[in-house]
Amino acid sequence: MRSQHADDYNHDAWAEGYDQDVADESHPIRAGYSALLDWMASAAEIGASDRVLELGSGSGNLTLRLSACGELICVDISAAMEALAAPKLTHLSNRRFIQEDILAVFDRPNFGPFDCVLSSYTVHHLTEEEKVWLFSRVWQQLVPGGRAVFGDLMVETAACQAGLAARYRAQGQPDTAESIEEEFFWRLETAVEQLTRLGFWVQTRRFSDLTFGLLCRKGN
Ligand SMILES: C[S@@+](CC[C@H](N)C(=O)[O-])C[C@H]1O[C@@H](n2cnc3c(N)ncnc32)[C@H](O)[C@@H]1O
Repeated sequence: MRSQHADDYNHDAWAEGYDQDVADESHPIRAGYSALLDWMASAAEIGASDRVLELGSGSGNLTLRLSACGELICVDISAAMEALAAPKLTHLSNRRFIQEDILAVFDRPNFGPFDCVLSSYTVHHLTEEEKVWLFSRVWQQLVPGGRAVFGDLMVETAACQAGLAARYRAQGQPDTAESIEEEFFWRLETAVEQLTRLGFWVQTRRFSDLTFGLLCRKGN
């Protein structure tokens, strides 16, 4: 299965200037970026021999924060974002990059299992149906006791989405309103239900108006 909007959200065209953009946390889309990535790296509790998968690794800002592990596989569809990441990550000799869609990559033979799967600011490019598909693949590919750690743009419920977009428009932030309306921000309540139904124990943490982290543990 390949994500419907993979080509639309391939960040090749946005790579130049990406790291400057994310450093500007005064923008509502970027508020909490650095604290969220720090929290994800710590919540993942990566061990020295762990197999780790990062989905949508982009310019490597989360990768750079991860503890040393046995094997690290980073997946992104954008060659230009990987060109930013690679020089930051030369010390990670056990890192492998796969240029691929984050759904299609699960079709590779002998891909898992993983001790930990992470993804920051990428799953909001997937439709609601695709998110459900991804969650179940992550569940299948995690070892017992494994962790999935997500950090992304989210609204608490589907019902508050339109109100949030209207509020940002009224505050003179039409680009934020458009992102809320046009991209596929997670609906936190729904995602927690879906992940819990799969069997995950889920913990959530808020980092800004639009940003949350989720730590999902698969029981032993
Ligand atoms: C907003 S950036 C986030 C990058 C990084 N994780 C971070 O936190 O800064 C989203 C990344 O996901 C990638 N991406 C978007 N849709 C994708 C898909 N369907 N498959 C693989 N990569 C995708 C983009 O190319 C981009 O590098």
